[in-house]
Amino acid sequence: MYNNITIQLLDQTALLEITRPKFLNALNRETLEEIDHAFSQELLQNKDIRGVIITGAGEKAFVAGADIKEFVNYSAEEGAALAKWGHGVMNRIYEFPKPIIAAINGYALGGGLELALACHMRVASQNAKMGLPEVTLGLIPGYGGTQRLASLVGRGKALEMIMSGEMIDAVEAHQWGLVNHVTNQEDLYNTCNHLLKKMYEKSPKAIAAAIKVVNAGLDKSKDGYEEEVKAFGESFGTPDFREGTDAFIAKRKPNF
Ligand code: CAA
Repeated sequence: MYNNITIQLLDQTALLEITRPKFLNALNRETLEEIDHAFSQELLQNKDIRGVIITGAGEKAFVAGADIKEFVNYSAEEGAALAKWGHGVMNRIYEFPKPIIAAINGYALGGGLELALACHMRVASQNAKMGLPEVTLGLIPGYGGTQRLASLVGRGKALEMIMSGEMIDAVEAHQWGLVNHVTNQEDLYNTCNHLLKKMYEKSPKAIAAAIKVVNAGLDKSKDGYEEEVKAFGESFGTPDFREGTDAFIAKRKPNF
């Protein structure tokens, strides 16, 4: 049982909602622990779940950041420990073997935008506002945002957002390549689910391998090309490869 999130299984999609709308779904420690637990347990293990949508409760916010009230008295050591722990949680989402979409339904700020950046794709509603306002607090982004934003939109735009602390709207975020699609608030879930459903027709093993290899290419400690060779070779040994190629030869749809 969770206190700060809900998970609904809708067909093959799990909808994870952060339910602290009174605080604009700010990520206090307990909330992030619950998110981490969900991704390490049921979302990972339940074979009926083929993809995940993360969103925030209410109409105002996806997530307005890490919970500022929790760290106002932190020392440098405590701050570093918070970032290290946050990195672990965000990395598990980033490396999750099933597709995850952030449905950005309002403010995605600081740690909230960093959560969206850790997801594999982002869809924003027209009222969404995104930013990394940490410099306003005398901080920098600490849940991976300095790295993931730069890899997604380039160094110049990332530094503009981080150094100004200003928010951008959904249309600008789309132009920057920060979000994949923009939609009306009422169509947000369906747009995300439509994207996922196209993936459910494809090989889950191949999708997991693609996530792993694309991420490896962005990881300075790994050789993405080498990882691709390895994962491409391993694909040939999977039942999904048998099914996909059998279906192609028989001129039928594959059944994964
Ligand atoms: N942490 C804790 N509480 C937060 C919060 C946050 N990040 N964001 C909003 N809240 C709380 C507010 O304190 C307020 O609670 P009370 O009613 O108890 O005062 C409630 O949510 C509603 O917020 P506002 O009254 O401020 O709503 P608004 O519409 O006037 O303003 C906003 C909306 C512009 C998003 C404003 O709330 C805001 O600036 N929030 C902080 C955004 C921020 O700085 N995020 C980065 C956090 S640091 C971080 O994330 C570090 C990291 O990289 C890991």
